[in-house]
Amino acid sequence: MSTWANLGLQDSASPLMEQLIFFHDHALLILVMITVLVGYLMFMLFFNNYVNRFLLHGQLIEMIWTILPAIILLFIALPSLRLLYLLDEINEPSVTLKSIGHQWYWSYEYSDFNNIEFDSYMIPTNELANDGFRLLDVDNRIVLPMNSQIRILVTAADVIHSWTIPALGVKVDGTPGRLNQTNFFINRPGLFYGQCSEICGANHSFMPIVIESVPVNYFIKWISSN
Ligand code: CUA
Repeated sequence: MSTWANLGLQDSASPLMEQLIFFHDHALLILVMITVLVGYLMFMLFFNNYVNRFLLHGQLIEMIWTILPAIILLFIALPSLRLLYLLDEINEPSVTLKSIGHQWYWSYEYSDFNNIEFDSYMIPTNELANDGFRLLDVDNRIVLPMNSQIRILVTAADVIHSWTIPALGVKVDGTPGRLNQTNFFINRPGLFYGQCSEICGANHSFMPIVIESVPVNYFIKWISSN
């Protein structure tokens, strides 16, 4: 979860988010190198007064400054493509969770286990417990086992919503009439917070997502007590 002054990415809780952070840092490094080089060149232009009266063309330098940026772009494009396909890969999930977006709450279905289903509403500020997180806690949390592949099916019942958990690197649109799929692997226990991130109406800001990541035997206990 993000707290005060955390302007960067949240700590990763899944292998895919770890890869996303690596890629972000890689792209940012290239960006900084280009900015410094171009900034230096532009700054230095102020301090020279060379004039070349016969300058009409420069075939060689044109070749260099066309091909070089193209090669640099490849160093961003290829890792980006690798990550794109990694994110789309489904690795034999052991649990499937269906999440349906409504105006303005999420409902969940565990279709593998006796069709457990429930709604998940944000807790209003006036009903919040002292240790609760304002605008982020919900009445019914999703419980999921850690260290297992989990498949998420996302859809919506009215308008487009988006099921987004920053720490897990998951962001899937829920679209009426469609069923979108993604998967993730939570590698530590804890609470993971997310929010709808598709502008879906007046209370768009008030349909958060909470995942309770627990060891597998706790998950089995929870699922059999429902
Ligand atoms: Cu649902 Cu924004």
